[in-house]
Amino acid sequence: MRRWIFGMVLGLGMMGFGMNGMAVVEAQPPGQKVGVSPDVAADYIHAVIQANRRIYAETIVDRLEKTETLQATENWKDEGSLPLPAQFLSMSAKMSNERGVGMRYRLMSLWPINPENSPKTKIEKTGFQEVVNRPDQPFTWLVQMAGIWYFQAVYPDIASTESCIHCHNGHPDSPRHDFKLGDVMGGILINLPLGRRVQKTEDQDFLIPPEVVTDYVHSVLESDRTVYSKHVVDRLQKEGVIQASEFWWMENGLPLPAQFLLNASRLVRKKQMGLDFRLISQWPINPLNGPANEFERLGLESVAIHPVRPYIGQTRVGQKRYFQAIYPDIAVAESCVLCHNQHPDSPKHDFQLDDVMGGIVVTLEVQELEDGR
Ligand code: HEC
Ligand code: HEC
Repeated sequence: MRRWIFGMVLGLGMMGFGMNGMAVVEAQPPGQKVGVSPDVAADYIHAVIQANRRIYAETIVDRLEKTETLQATENWKDEGSLPLPAQFLSMSAKMSNERGVGMRYRLMSLWPINPENSPKTKIEKTGFQEVVNRPDQPFTWLVQMAGIWYFQAVYPDIASTESCIHCHNGHPDSPRHDFKLGDVMGGILINLPLGRRVQKTEDQDFLIPPEVVTDYVHSVLESDRTVYSKHVVDRLQKEGVIQASEFWWMENGLPLPAQFLLNASRLVRKKQMGLDFRLISQWPINPLNGPANEFERLGLESVAIHPVRPYIGQTRVGQKRYFQAIYPDIAVAESCVLCHNQHPDSPKHDFQLDDVMGGIVVTLEVQELEDGR
């Protein structure tokens, strides 16, 4: 196995991040194959989708229904209510898919309320049937379309609460009425483009470049963050239905967008799969969200000036290698600007819509291919 060259700098400046142990700045020699295998990349993406789905379904929909503050309904736009969890995911997936990063995902089922959520191909249907039979693991395969290989994975979507089965079993458009708690109700399909030259049987040898995988992870995060801020927080605050509050659990309010992301990152971190993300800023309301090191400080400065390009770097903790990317965090909704500008602890009070307000740091573990493979 080839060793990495120490002491060289990728990106600019020193790096290091909040994990135990010494972080060593390294660069990748030309030709060195470092990246993330498609199955691990899909696991990372799924972990983020799943964490956000859980936060939305449990912390927001279920809690506010129980306190009788607010319902989730299909016609949420007209009814001043919350979008259903499936609608939240679909809006976010659509936004991410349209961003054109390459990776696509969607929610589907063999028994869909909405026929658009059916499997689109025979192999999707087979893959879905496999996760119904073996829900403890995702089902993955490679498929070629128009000369390009794609890695596809289906992860089970489980009936985790009574409300899932009550609503689906009782829904007039549902083709199935006997769902039980714990059943696989559907699946999350993730589709990763690999390129033209992939051996059909040797996908383990194929690594996706790390900056592509952080783009995928970030695309999911940003889409969920935008859907939450625009279609939940902004809309319901404007309609006077409910407020976002730092003390949401006491005040029957909506969690702040930053708290949504923080809670999701806790769920993902607990899985110890080598993926982490957090929100930082040069002008933090909470001083803990300031840059933790030189890499983050330079990254925040860089994305404020060059917002289309993430700031990237690599680091090592013990034997493990990590890739980090900082993406700009944009004021996508009116509520972002209003709340930060008014907040007594905010060091900045002149944010405007579409300004870069901070950054999302995505960190993931990368693998290295041995020589000659
Ligand atoms: C209040 C009703 C309601 C609740 C609660 C609900 N769903 Fe749904 N679900 C729907 C509707 C309506 C759709 C179709 C949305 C659309 O138009 O895409 C849907 C879509 C889905 C889909 C995509 C396939 C399809 O049926 O169109 C899956 C999978 C799914 N829901 C799983 C769940 C799970 C798991 C839960 C619990 C965590 C849940 N649902 C809670 C009403 C509900
Ligand atoms: C209702 C108030 C409110 C809204 C709306 C809101 N924020 Fe915040 N935001 C906060 C608070 C309070 C914190 C600090 C949370 C903590 O203690 O970690 C925060 C944290 C942040 C941070 C981390 C740095 C810091 O200030 O601590 C960023 C970046 C950020 N928000 C950007 C946004 C963006 C972008 C939006 C819109 C998508 C948004 N915020 C919407 C109140 C708000």
